[in-house]
Amino acid sequence: MWCIGYVLLILSFLPCGCSGDAFRFASYYGDHMVLQKAPAGAVLWGYGSSGAQVKILLSGPNSTQTITTAVNDGIWKVRLEPVPAGGPYNLTAIQKGTSSSKILLTDLLFGDVWLCGGQSNMAFTLAQVYNASEELADAPKYPNVRVFQAALEQSSVELKDLAGVEVPWSRPSAEILGGKDFTHFSAVCWLFGRYLYETLQYPVGLVESCWGGTPIETWSSPRVLQKCGLLHRVTQAGRRGGGHKCSDSEGSLWRDSVLWNAMIHPLLPMTIKGVIWYQDEANAQSNHDKYSCTFPAMIDDWRMMFHTGSDSQTAADFPFGFVQLCTYRKHTHDGIPEIRWHQTADYGYAPNQRMKNTFMAVALDLPDEHSPWGSIHPRDKQDVAYRLVLGARAVAYGEKGVSFQGPFPTSVQFYKNYLNITYNQMIRTSPSNDTFEICCSVYQKPCGSGSEWFPAALQEQDRVSDSVLVSVDGCSADSVAALRYAWSDWPCEFKDCPVYSADSALPAPPFIINRWPAHS
Ligand SMILES: *[C@@H]1O[C@H](CO)[C@@H](O)[C@H](O)[C@H]1NC(C)=O
Ligand SMILES: *[C@@H]1O[C@H](CO)[C@@H](O)[C@H](O)[C@H]1NC(C)=O
Ligand SMILES: *[C@@H]1O[C@H](CO)[C@@H](O)[C@H](O)[C@H]1NC(C)=O
Ligand SMILES: *[C@@H]1O[C@H](CO)[C@@H](O)[C@H](O)[C@H]1NC(C)=O
Ligand SMILES: *[C@@H]1O[C@H](CO)[C@@H](O)[C@H](O)[C@H]1NC(C)=O
Repeated sequence: MWCIGYVLLILSFLPCGCSGDAFRFASYYGDHMVLQKAPAGAVLWGYGSSGAQVKILLSGPNSTQTITTAVNDGIWKVRLEPVPAGGPYNLTAIQKGTSSSKILLTDLLFGDVWLCGGQSNMAFTLAQVYNASEELADAPKYPNVRVFQAALEQSSVELKDLAGVEVPWSRPSAEILGGKDFTHFSAVCWLFGRYLYETLQYPVGLVESCWGGTPIETWSSPRVLQKCGLLHRVTQAGRRGGGHKCSDSEGSLWRDSVLWNAMIHPLLPMTIKGVIWYQDEANAQSNHDKYSCTFPAMIDDWRMMFHTGSDSQTAADFPFGFVQLCTYRKHTHDGIPEIRWHQTADYGYAPNQRMKNTFMAVALDLPDEHSPWGSIHPRDKQDVAYRLVLGARAVAYGEKGVSFQGPFPTSVQFYKNYLNITYNQMIRTSPSNDTFEICCSVYQKPCGSGSEWFPAALQEQDRVSDSVLVSVDGCSADSVAALRYAWSDWPCEFKDCPVYSADSALPAPPFIINRWPAHS
């Protein structure tokens, strides 16, 4: 795949004139597509003969419109008047000039378009999940959820259009959603769209653009890397998160920005509702200390670029949902707790001050030791997508009364023999001797991964309240310098963490609380 990537990369350096003046749409418009609904206007573009006039006619149940534009430098671009959700619509594009030509696109819908990005856990297909055969058989029952997938391509320069398409816009079928391992179509993306459709009851368009084993630096523009002090460094991908065709990601060298250039930049004119993202395994050993900078900076950059790229039709603060890393290996200290923390810009929850209009699906209680694709690729994507959809409903759609965040502490009181941790909501607890840990230190300074940590047992168990008591045996309360929760790669077994939300059954995300600030 690497080699093929390079061949296409060379071809893509040629100016677009090489494809002649063929009148056509850009690669990601076609029959069965979903275009972003009102209040935004969908942007369409394509290629033609410079100087020619292009007429676009939209016809369907709720809107008929005609827009005329001219081809400049081989490119034409129009913005439709906003169209309410629904369909089907037809779109006719006519080029007038020396060589008149006409294109008809049929079976278009208007709805919400979500982009799905990341690495192998996003690429993981619906054929790989638990209950795959039922999920695949169910898919055609959702003809208003449509899918599109960009092919795996990389480029050292920003491309105007995708160099390849893995799945053109399609109605869902078992064949399209059940491609071979890590090919098509993303289970998290599909299930997110399907569950969202059940709430919205109008069309949803899903655009998958992801690649296994890829660090965030590949998906980030040079602006992001510069902001985080990473410009002009070669990034070594981590050992994990491989798969997806070019499966030997171990030790492969990824050059910065190559997937931003080839798999995101071309999509900027497309009007979208928001993005979901499942990535970070490849950063556990690569610039992981920088993730709390790179991730929010990449979100900011994508937002700005999609906004300007779509003639301001994509919101400048569009919602961005992400999956906090699941588990990889038991009994190891391998950077995953820190990575989970950095995914939230070190707040522990989302949205937060630094990451506004975001939402997070916590997944650390969904381990899968016996996954045939390795424990880094857990098969339960249904719960991941369900938790993402809760976040989307609350954050992206402003639905009131949707609980989408697990419990997070609001205060910790230090007593002689115990700590009293108060949460922001009612919790349900179960026995635990070591998921909470304390750092016992006579120094009044923050504790890090290198400090000595001791297990701290939950004292009051199996009950519903808004606080827990944790014993501090062997460390006088005065010497407890920090407290942390679920701070290991594999902190609990399947859906069996010590702290859950009492009403939504969502797991508490991991946290670390230092008693003393860094400067004292
Ligand atoms: C779209 O075009 C097809 C094929 O020409 C036609 O059968 C259908 O009635 C058209 N639908 C609309 C909404 O114009
Ligand atoms: C027409 O638009 C309204 C909202 O304005 C929507 O409820 C309805 O479903 C649309 N009908 C079709 C067939 O698209
Ligand atoms: C698989 O199907 C069974 C039986 O319907 C159900 O109990 C289980 O929750 C499903 N698993 C997932 C991950 O959806
Ligand atoms: C723990 O804190 C909660 C909330 O502040 C309070 O209601 C409870 O009485 C405290 N429990 C103990 C044993 O300190
Ligand atoms: C906690 O430790 C006690 C005492 O060793 C043991 O009896 C209990 O089973 C442990 N509980 C858990 C959840 O591991």
